[in-house]
Amino acid sequence: MTSEGVDTEKRRFLTQAATVVGAVGVGFLSVPFISSMKPSAKAEALGAPVEVDISKIEPGQRIVVLWRGKPVWLLRRTPEALAGLSELTDKLRDPQSNESEQPESSHNEFRAIKPEIFVAIGVCTHLGCSPLYRPEIAPADLGPDWKGGFFCPCHGSSFDLAGRVYKGVPAPINLAIPPYRYLADNRIMVGEGE
Ligand code: FES
Repeated sequence: MTSEGVDTEKRRFLTQAATVVGAVGVGFLSVPFISSMKPSAKAEALGAPVEVDISKIEPGQRIVVLWRGKPVWLLRRTPEALAGLSELTDKLRDPQSNESEQPESSHNEFRAIKPEIFVAIGVCTHLGCSPLYRPEIAPADLGPDWKGGFFCPCHGSSFDLAGRVYKGVPAPINLAIPPYRYLADNRIMVGEGE
């Protein structure tokens, strides 16, 4: 092989080696970038506020988002559901929510900033199961007096459509209301109070 041939071989080898090192370098660089994004996802799981678009929630529909590892319900209550809330007072343990966790802005008969949209932490106040959303009126399994609400299948606690606990069930207090605020008519920030 001539010296020119050796130089050509060497150049090809160096070019290939540089390409491999370059590829490794890019790969190496991209890992810290990805891992630098992880803390914010973790921070979100640990408690950063969660912005929710409520524009697509139909009347009677509930959606669930995760905040601080807990399910947070956002329910668009119908006019009938809102009207029915005042009929239940005698059956509820704490109808005025004097003993429950809720921000000042939701301390009213609807337990909400705007009556139509109910926001609550979907964790039973007995032992922490997640109650089922049961909006039907008088279904066979819940009896003729059921006006729609939340039923916990673990030990049978029931709550109305404002998360207020019924008398005579294991759960001691109403469902908790998280801090939240409206960013716009159809956007709510869960986890950040007014
Ligand atoms: S955890 Fe809900 S009734 Fe016990």
